Amino acid sequence: MTTAFAIGQPTDRVDGRHKVTGDAHYSADIHLDAMAYAVLAGARVPSGRVTAIDTTEAMDARGVLAVLTHENLPRIATQPPLIPSLAGMPAPGQTFFPLQNEVVHYTGQPVAVVVADTLERAQHAAALVRVTYEETPSVTTLDQGRDRAYEPEAIFAGFVPGRNERGDVEAGLAQADVRIDATYTYAANNHNPIEPSATTATWDGDQLTLYDATQGVAATQLTVAALLGLTPSKVRVVSHFVGGSFGCKAMIWAHPALAALASRHTGRPVRLTLTREQMFTSVGHREEQEQRITLGATREGRLTALRHHKLSPTSHFDDWAEPSLGVAGQIYACPNYEGVYRLFRANTMTPTFMRAPGEASGMFALECAMDELAHQLGIDPVELRLRNYTDTDPNTGNPWSSCGLRECYQRGAERFGWQRRNPEPGSHRDGDWLIGYGMATAGYPVYGPNNPQRARARLYADGSAVIQAATPDFGTGVATAMTQVAADALGLPVERCRFEGGDTTLPTIAAAVGSAGAGMISAAVHTAATNLRDELVAQAVGDAESPLHGADPGTVVVRDGRMTLRDLPETGESYQDLLHRHFLPDVEAAGAWSPSPRSAGEYGMMTFGAQFAEVAVDPWLGLARVRRMVGAFAPGRVLNAKTARSQLMGGMLWGLGQALLEANYMDPRRGRWVASSLGDYLVAVNADAPEVDVELIEVEDKVVNPLGVKGVGEVGQVGAAAAVANAVHHATGRRVRKAPITIEDLL
Ligand code: MOS
Repeated sequence: MTTAFAIGQPTDRVDGRHKVTGDAHYSADIHLDAMAYAVLAGARVPSGRVTAIDTTEAMDARGVLAVLTHENLPRIATQPPLIPSLAGMPAPGQTFFPLQNEVVHYTGQPVAVVVADTLERAQHAAALVRVTYEETPSVTTLDQGRDRAYEPEAIFAGFVPGRNERGDVEAGLAQADVRIDATYTYAANNHNPIEPSATTATWDGDQLTLYDATQGVAATQLTVAALLGLTPSKVRVVSHFVGGSFGCKAMIWAHPALAALASRHTGRPVRLTLTREQMFTSVGHREEQEQRITLGATREGRLTALRHHKLSPTSHFDDWAEPSLGVAGQIYACPNYEGVYRLFRANTMTPTFMRAPGEASGMFALECAMDELAHQLGIDPVELRLRNYTDTDPNTGNPWSSCGLRECYQRGAERFGWQRRNPEPGSHRDGDWLIGYGMATAGYPVYGPNNPQRARARLYADGSAVIQAATPDFGTGVATAMTQVAADALGLPVERCRFEGGDTTLPTIAAAVGSAGAGMISAAVHTAATNLRDELVAQAVGDAESPLHGADPGTVVVRDGRMTLRDLPETGESYQDLLHRHFLPDVEAAGAWSPSPRSAGEYGMMTFGAQFAEVAVDPWLGLARVRRMVGAFAPGRVLNAKTARSQLMGGMLWGLGQALLEANYMDPRRGRWVASSLGDYLVAVNADAPEVDVELIEVEDKVVNPLGVKGVGEVGQVGAAAAVANAVHHATGRRVRKAPITIEDLL
């Protein structure tokens, strides 16, 4: 029996002080003796081939140690297939590895790696590499690629079928009293964590160590080992601090392997840091896309049909699309459904996971279309959702493992003051500002890893414990939450528990992606710490010198490091007494957890929520300002109220950015991204941030994992952009079917 004392508390981040005092060492802060610096030079054309590279001038520049191109870089051993990092296999972000031949597939593709004794000298020499190209016509935009679209068998690295159907969507549309047919377009998005990706590589004989900014040290280890033809035991990956990621450090791109190769070539430790500009061309992105929604409904607002088609560009080598047609096809009761992905080959890298991968864009389309339907039928938007509520997964008929969605609508609406909304667009004003209220449903799947997740717990004779698992903390607060999980399982105060992670020498954890981190890591930590507690209790009850001798272990409870009988709290002893008596410096236990294969077959697993936004639009200037956001979410067990809220708030604010700010576009003439810095790629900053109210709805989930943790990493973003767009419509009466909605759209 575990009693929660620490779990759920708003405990401060255990690494907060290190971060704010500059004492946290990120991958590009690692200083090694005789370290050299690598700089990537990227292709300046989107398509074609390198016809000549003149490296003479660069090689002659001061301090230059090497210029590696396709002519002298060793060939990679194998190119592993595209597999999501959660699967615990090698996880390259794309199946193409650069610098193997002269072919150019996208602008920014590495064509040279320059290594010098200082960063500045490497940067200077990189500018001296003379590359001549033969350029061929490129395709980079939806408008250019539309005519060559094809229907892939599967997307998302083969994990999601290209088409999903139930019932008969044509028949459903024929039954409908009303129909909505709307097409939504989306600009491409780039991840922009504060810390750009970086790897510091060093060899000790044939042993490689990489300090890498990654969401999963095993993902980096296995990928680099496969690329270089090494056994994984010869590749250690350390990642103690990671400055955000949002998906761009989930899959493993070329730079960690290039850093390793540059280090081996020069015989010196090498640090390779992507520039901010390179972050737009080197670590994947959310693809430009178009989604068409066709809804059929009865006059009472019951959905009879949902057709959802998506068109998006992918790279020349992989069939990747973010899975936008997942939650949107499951969140409402609708008997007739058709979801189809279409792709076309473009001169970009393979797109990748980006926060709320798929669902953030898919639910934007569905939830804007639902708002259009509500408006057309004259039904309140919340009421329309309630009429289509389902307590089973419509794809399978399986019940949700836990839900809470109705409570989310209700509590969210109450906190927001939804009942004050006059349904007539343009009916609320504040001076010159038009005020709009919008809402949307949120949902994100509960993913599980495909393999066992492991952790280790060790108690020392001084009564303190360390809990170890390989996972890095890339800003989510996982190290703090795991300290709390271990404290409760061991019966120790949090101050006496310390979490160590971010190193492949520790027990293996898959990359934390798809909001699965808290659930799977807490499961491993809880199992290891519980095993250790059980072992200590077993030692005590089996020890003739212990006051607990002969007791039933099931009647022993541990609190503050003291094992006592549940019904006789005076009878017992501390962990320390037990260890001292037996001259034990420490006791250690391992734990492993795998998701039950039954759960996915018998339950629908999703995290639900409801989003509400108030927007003010200045019709004279075309400005849209979000004034308030309220989100109510039911993420199962909350491990740390502060970090969970922070995650959800971050997601909601990103939804604001998705709706109004974030955009990158390809220049079709040049075949390159227009935005290449945070000056021209706009993200929501403090001046844009309204009051954000996050409400946590408690639901118990006995299916997903031992602690019932469903995850908060991404659901906060899902639906938030739609709530904002719907509020823009309510304020102005205008339907702007695109993300982001910009000034030009509102003038
Ligand atoms: Mo997250 S975007 O699924 O790494």
